[in-house]
Amino acid sequence: MMDRDVGVGRSVINDPVPGRVRIESDAVPQPPVQEASQARPPAVAREAVFDIHDMAVFYGESQALGWTSLRIYRHVVTAVIGPSGCGKSTFIRSLNRMNDAIPGFRLEGQVLYHGHDVYAAATNRVEVRRRIGMVFQKPNPFPKSIFDNVAWAPRNLGMRVDLNERVERALQHAALWDEVKDRLHESALGLSGGQQQRLCIARALAIEPDVLLLDEPASALDPIATASIEELMHTLKHRYTIVIVTHNMQQAARVADHTAFFSLDTTGSERIGTLVEYADTETIFRRPRDTRTRDYVTGQFG
Ligand SMILES: Nc1ncnc2c1ncn2[C@@H]1O[C@H](COP(=O)(O)OP(=O)(O)OP(=O)(O)O)[C@@H](O)[C@H]1O
Ligand SMILES: [Mg+2]
Repeated sequence: MMDRDVGVGRSVINDPVPGRVRIESDAVPQPPVQEASQARPPAVAREAVFDIHDMAVFYGESQALGWTSLRIYRHVVTAVIGPSGCGKSTFIRSLNRMNDAIPGFRLEGQVLYHGHDVYAAATNRVEVRRRIGMVFQKPNPFPKSIFDNVAWAPRNLGMRVDLNERVERALQHAALWDEVKDRLHESALGLSGGQQQRLCIARALAIEPDVLLLDEPASALDPIATASIEELMHTLKHRYTIVIVTHNMQQAARVADHTAFFSLDTTGSERIGTLVEYADTETIFRRPRDTRTRDYVTGQFG
């Protein structure tokens, strides 16, 4: 294991604020686009949904993610970008314990969700997944009807009251209702790729989570389906907190309020995923502070 104090793979950035490095958990976030010297406290302090302290992830002996600290805020879209293998999926899967089933997975540090330690022994994993939903790269509907796909998680969790309304609401929120309302009992496998992905989003929304984690949700879709998923992000963020991994720079620039750029730290003998810069999206794309960020977003790397 690496020595935590050496600093390899360590990040101390925890707010999407340019030029500020803070680790106090009660620090009030500053307006994102101002320089630290001009910063004024915001009228309303934003609420942190995740407060991640010194999180490091290992698969067996090898470290996938360096010690990462950052906060993710309520009702904004946070994009996670970076080259292949830098730990983007590892990072978001760590937020709802999706990595737990991987042999050799180990997490150090702390992931606080509304102040609760996600990895504490007393934490109920089912409850974590109920509140923090996830959608994957490849649409993966069950070979069941459209209705049964969306009703699946509510039924499993015993939420049977007003199930029809719940299914309709989830499909409405996923902007799919109008396209499927007359064929709810047909197979989900008959939907197009873009519709299947919105169905998977509806399936995640059916249990009314607080957070939606999306790991490259549009990378298998055509431009039209991608545009509808992006549009969806803009409306969903008023109800949900969204974290999205994307390889598509334009997509991050279009949908995200905040962007976290990860890269591979190759200064040591291992290649460890490292949070390089975290700021409001405009800063990351127009005025990045780190040359590694600039090279990546301008296409000179990765
Ligand atoms: N199940 C696993 N077992 C062992 N190592 C893994 C596992 N999943 C990921 N890793 C390793 O962790 C590191 C980060 O992988 P991760 O999938 O998080 O990267 P990523 O940024 O999402 O990449 P991509 O853009 O290709 O999806 C890589 O070195 C990868 O080989
Ligand atoms: Mg990935």
